[in-house]
Amino acid sequence: MPNAEIIHATFERAAEACADPAPLVYARLFALRPDFKPLFDMDTDGGVRGSMLETCFEAILGLVEGSGSQRVILSAARFSHGGYGVEGAEFDVMFASIRDVFRDLLMPDWTADEEAAWADLLGEIAAIA
Ligand code: HEM
Repeated sequence: MPNAEIIHATFERAAEACADPAPLVYARLFALRPDFKPLFDMDTDGGVRGSMLETCFEAILGLVEGSGSQRVILSAARFSHGGYGVEGAEFDVMFASIRDVFRDLLMPDWTADEEAAWADLLGEIAAIA
């Protein structure tokens, strides 16, 4: 189980550094995977992107608290995204993008423990089929 206290602290500090991280997260996602950008062409007002990121945040915060229902939600979302052409580990690139943005926002105060807690978290999410 990833360290909940550390993950929470990174959320709080990232929120202090940036009130709306959505543009940064999607910029990072599309830098890593430019081919994902056209998938959001229909999302003209950013509503889908906003609610998708919100779902990711809820999943992370639920998971570190040991929430079984968030595991089910993640599993269902992983499956349903196959319908958008987002297959298997591609789904996890979203969480890596969130981690990368938080790390950038917290630099130079991002610690080795924070890096390790996020690595644990990403590993745990990747293991949810
Ligand atoms: C790189 C990975 C991902 C890509 C490329 C992606 C892509 C998309 C696309 C294109 C849609 C819109 C589908 C449509 O309405 O036609 C969508 C919706 C959604 N995605 Fe993702 N997704 C990714 C990862 C995730 C993750 C990790 C979650 C969290 C569980 C998630 C949760 C959602 C939710 C909840 C919606 C519906 C949002 C709404 O319409 O209100 N997605 N995703």
